[in-house]
Amino acid sequence: MKVTISNAKPGSILAEDLYDQTGRLLLPKGTELDEMNIYMLRKHHIMEIEIEVASRQIELERIRQFQATYEASVDMLKQIVDQAKTSGKIPIEPLIDISTILLEEILQDTGIVHQLSRVRNQDEYTFRHLMNVSIYSGMLAKWLGLTKQEQMKLALAGILHDCGKIFVPNHILNKQGALTDEEQEEMKKHTEYGYQFLMNNKISEEIALVALNHHERRDGTGYPKGIRDRHIDFFSRVVAVADVYDAMCSDRTYQKANSPYHVSEILWELSYDKMDPQIVLPFIHGICQFFVGDQVVLNTGETAKVVFVYNDEPTRPLVQLGNVYMDLRKHRQIKIEKIL
Ligand SMILES: [Fe+2]
Repeated sequence: MKVTISNAKPGSILAEDLYDQTGRLLLPKGTELDEMNIYMLRKHHIMEIEIEVASRQIELERIRQFQATYEASVDMLKQIVDQAKTSGKIPIEPLIDISTILLEEILQDTGIVHQLSRVRNQDEYTFRHLMNVSIYSGMLAKWLGLTKQEQMKLALAGILHDCGKIFVPNHILNKQGALTDEEQEEMKKHTEYGYQFLMNNKISEEIALVALNHHERRDGTGYPKGIRDRHIDFFSRVVAVADVYDAMCSDRTYQKANSPYHVSEILWELSYDKMDPQIVLPFIHGICQFFVGDQVVLNTGETAKVVFVYNDEPTRPLVQLGNVYMDLRKHRQIKIEKIL
């Protein structure tokens, strides 16, 4: 099976001899790849390699396992939220368990998060969204170089960020059409309800602040207080990126799912005035790497393969159409509409 070098994983077995441009053997068939080998192949500009199918089967098994853990976590989260609604108390231990188990699985192989973009059904959107925000927040913490403890805290903050919604009346929360001004004001209060709820439940203030501030924006246009820039705490700025990204990538009653490339470009624009560029840019870089090797549909209707992500503009990669390579940084009118 052919894989791009960005998708090559340590442990994969080479199914071909690999040579450099002068014909010198780099690695023989049968080599079990490690990080060093993969780094060396990149240095020699090897774009694609043939690996044994057995390792693909192992990968499929990992994906299946991840999906099973994810679905079980969504079910468990649903039960916890129902319980919190009736008791007014939040059982924090099981929430820590859910976010930790999933994050541990993801941190071993961040590429598996790619699977989230494939599970995009509306069923149980609320709970899937909380899970996804938790996963993206924890992973983003890793990409930002934060400690393991901070990664775990951010994953927990992500799962709890919208907990104030349990106090918003159902007729507003589940309304199909547009909300009236009054209903919107009530909806916005989920931030303050959430902060109060978490503080009452003796959750640490840095996590409660995420419930309060995740809709605040750098230019002061957010809510509930319209605070600006560094007055918005760091954890809230991280979770805000994960929240916006997952919401825009999801199929909702009032919105069709957008392609991750389109959403990444919107986030990029939001980083000019509303979101923190020092958080947005590493996020976009990390996300766009996931799609190397994937088939995508362009706005021309053609199908192409993502071959390489450029550091300066990760949302406009090098793609391959048949035998032709196209640098999307130089073809500005062409966009990636969908990932297959
Ligand atoms: Fe929210």
